[in-house]
Amino acid sequence: MNRMTVVGAGHVGATTALRLAEKELAREVVLVDILEGIPQGKGLDQWQTGPIEGFDTRVVGASDYGPTKGSELFVVTAGVPRKPGMSRDDLVKTNTDIVKSVSQEIKKRAPKAIIIMVSNPLDVMTWVAKEVTGFPRERVIGMAGILDTARYRTFLADALDVSVEDIQAMVLGGHGDTMVPLISYTTVSGIPVTQLIERKKLDAIVERTRKGGGEIVSHLKTGSAYYAPSSAAVQIVEAIVKDKKRILPCAAWLEGEYGITGQYLGVPCKLGTKGLEQVIEVELTDEEKAALQKSAEAVKKTWEVVQL
Ligand code: NAI
Ligand code: 2OP
Repeated sequence: MNRMTVVGAGHVGATTALRLAEKELAREVVLVDILEGIPQGKGLDQWQTGPIEGFDTRVVGASDYGPTKGSELFVVTAGVPRKPGMSRDDLVKTNTDIVKSVSQEIKKRAPKAIIIMVSNPLDVMTWVAKEVTGFPRERVIGMAGILDTARYRTFLADALDVSVEDIQAMVLGGHGDTMVPLISYTTVSGIPVTQLIERKKLDAIVERTRKGGGEIVSHLKTGSAYYAPSSAAVQIVEAIVKDKKRILPCAAWLEGEYGITGQYLGVPCKLGTKGLEQVIEVELTDEEKAALQKSAEAVKKTWEVVQL
């Protein structure tokens, strides 16, 4: 890609910009924030990392959207992160206003762009971007499932004493405590995980995964996770830029898949040049189906309070 933009030069946004540059996923990465100086300083610092890390991507910081013109893709991380004791949903009102204004700018300046939403509450903010821009579902995708799955894979690999690379898994549903790790599709190099670990331990890992974001907030106290989240956002961008046709769990606007119509929810998505190229429907156990429905209801509850 020639140019892409990361909106929000905070923890997630700045780390994302650097990872995009290190992978040379665009010739230019624009880092935009409402703050004056922070995006410019971070952008310059990141650009000067190039000679050492060996990348030619230019990172440009800005406090207005002028330099974003012609961006083919936006990663939106603008917003307020969680503080201890706050749920992701507590963020809804503040972040709705922020994501609405960001989406208006994107629509005005880059009507053909793809949007990867990161701001929380994720499933609802992805809807805000789709609603405000009027972009088709192919071009408005939410990042959460890859992060939640990475946490699940990390904990499983640790418990089994195997490489994280050999854990195949997928966490679906909303990005919240009701998320749905698919045990029936969790394998270790193709071996069903249930053959390798007792159910009680697996259930504890599922529970830790569901609360994985909160666990980090309780340590950091002043914010939330950003290393794994930025890696997850970049994995989506890479799949799109390189037209990899990867199947990754992302928040997608559902049009009947999994029996759900007209809402964002984490499901397996095929990602390529067009963005979301297909929602993959897999068979679920009755327990997983019920859990996915419950998660969809939880997302709807947050969504109901949103006023655009
Ligand atoms: P942060 O506070 O470090 O950075 C947020 C940045 O957004 C700040 O620099 C702020 O000035 C900027 N901002 C606020 N309003 C803006 C606007 N209108 N335009 C441009 N920039 C604006 O927060 P952090 O840690 O980077 O988190 C960002 C968001 O990502 C939060 O909502 C957080 O909850 C979410 N998040 C989502 C994850 C997911 O899995 N989907 C994972 C991690 C974080
Ligand atoms: C996380 O899961 C805060 O949503 C963010 O870490």
